[in-house]
Amino acid sequence: MPNLRFYGGGDDIHYAKETEVLICGPRGTGKSIAVLHKVYLMLSMFPNARALILRKTRKSLTSSTIPTFENTILDPGPLKDFLLKSGGSHGYRQRYVFPHGASLELGSMQDVDSFKSADYDMIVIEEAESIQNEADYLTLIPCLRNSRMVLNKDAQGCGVPPRHFHQIICCCNPGSPNHWLNRRANTDAMRRIRSHIRDNPRHWDYEKDAYTDVGEQYYSTFNHFPPYMKKRYLDGEWVAAEGIVYPDFDESIHVIPKVPEGVKIQRTIAAVDWGHAHPTSILVIGKGSDDKFYVLDEYYGAGKTVDELAKVCRDFQNRYQVEVFVCDAANKGNIDFFNKSGIPSTTTDKRVEFGISLVTQRLSQSKIHFLDKIKPRDTGLSGAQGLLDEFSLYCYKTNKNGQQTDTVEKTNDDALDALRYGIVYLDSADNEMIWSIF
Ligand SMILES: Nc1ncnc2c1ncn2[C@@H]1O[C@H](COP(=O)(O)OP(=O)(O)OP(=O)(O)O)[C@@H](O)[C@H]1O
Ligand SMILES: [Mg+2]
Repeated sequence: MPNLRFYGGGDDIHYAKETEVLICGPRGTGKSIAVLHKVYLMLSMFPNARALILRKTRKSLTSSTIPTFENTILDPGPLKDFLLKSGGSHGYRQRYVFPHGASLELGSMQDVDSFKSADYDMIVIEEAESIQNEADYLTLIPCLRNSRMVLNKDAQGCGVPPRHFHQIICCCNPGSPNHWLNRRANTDAMRRIRSHIRDNPRHWDYEKDAYTDVGEQYYSTFNHFPPYMKKRYLDGEWVAAEGIVYPDFDESIHVIPKVPEGVKIQRTIAAVDWGHAHPTSILVIGKGSDDKFYVLDEYYGAGKTVDELAKVCRDFQNRYQVEVFVCDAANKGNIDFFNKSGIPSTTTDKRVEFGISLVTQRLSQSKIHFLDKIKPRDTGLSGAQGLLDEFSLYCYKTNKNGQQTDTVEKTNDDALDALRYGIVYLDSADNEMIWSIF
């Protein structure tokens, strides 16, 4: 094994025995390499042990975890050759199998359901801050039952019962303080280990007690990031995004598994924001008998023709009895095509501030919920992966002094624009009814 040394949080994680551990800190502080190293050591020691590494998307696994494991953790030699021969080619690698039967499996959080019935000794979740829903994480904990890693191995045979080691490690950069991971790590359920810039010997020179050239260059790239991102990426602090458009969104309140018992969906519309290079977003929104709105389903994808989008809409029509598609007025041609194809389509008030105020009102009063089936999945796109991702990314512009303006950034707003159209349409329809009574 290459002669790696670990410091601070990277060292602590090697000795951590708790079942649930969070390692979090600034970017590039050696969290991933330390955790991969621990997993590798543990698997090397215990025959038939099983570990699973999950990342947000399959793409990020291929571009990040696999190269770190193969190029930094594994020493060139027969074991590396053996491991590389097992479990598929680089791009589609599913696992590494050790000669003594231990295995390291690789997967993406989008396929989390497929791991639920398996048995593991260790599970690692990379980029864990991207998991919107604590329930997805909790479904993995019962999988820690493979019982092949034993802490008191030397005492075996002396009548001492085995102490099995099972562990789930979440690696992340800090996000919003409301994030479920931050809250969980504030309880006894999960130990928090912090990593620091000085934990990475590539970035920090201990003798000089200063950045290395590589470190200085790396961290100077964050100089022009917004202040909240610098606090997260450089200081490792859990801080809310300044200038975020919907700070009231809280996934622990707004994302729910299903429409509550006893609530009937009284009407269903769909809201459409057109895109081609950018994603097109289609949200199915139901109005419940409790006067709350429920986002029941979502399509989020780029590069589709209007004909292909019409197919998606027809499917939504059949499944949810969508009464009307409320579309971004910017593409009249698509709207005409939809109407001619039997997809009833209309437009609504597009004023941005007005729409944002209606969405904010519903969020702050918990009068809108999102079914967790729309949680972000691998769209193959490089940015946000869906509506729930956009909530943490959609911001107001800042001026050259770094102060927030009243203008929104026209990025990470595809699904949120659709949401705005849907809510403006439904809320205005209600208001018209109220006005007509008076
Ligand atoms: N102890 C170490 N010894 C040698 N190289 C290290 C060590 N720690 C980190 N590095 C190197 O520094 C780089 C960043 O490390 P790593 O990806 O593990 O950081 P990270 O904290 O997981 O980053 P991110 O926050 O972006 O996920 C990698 O190239 C890694 O190989
Ligand atoms: Mg990492």
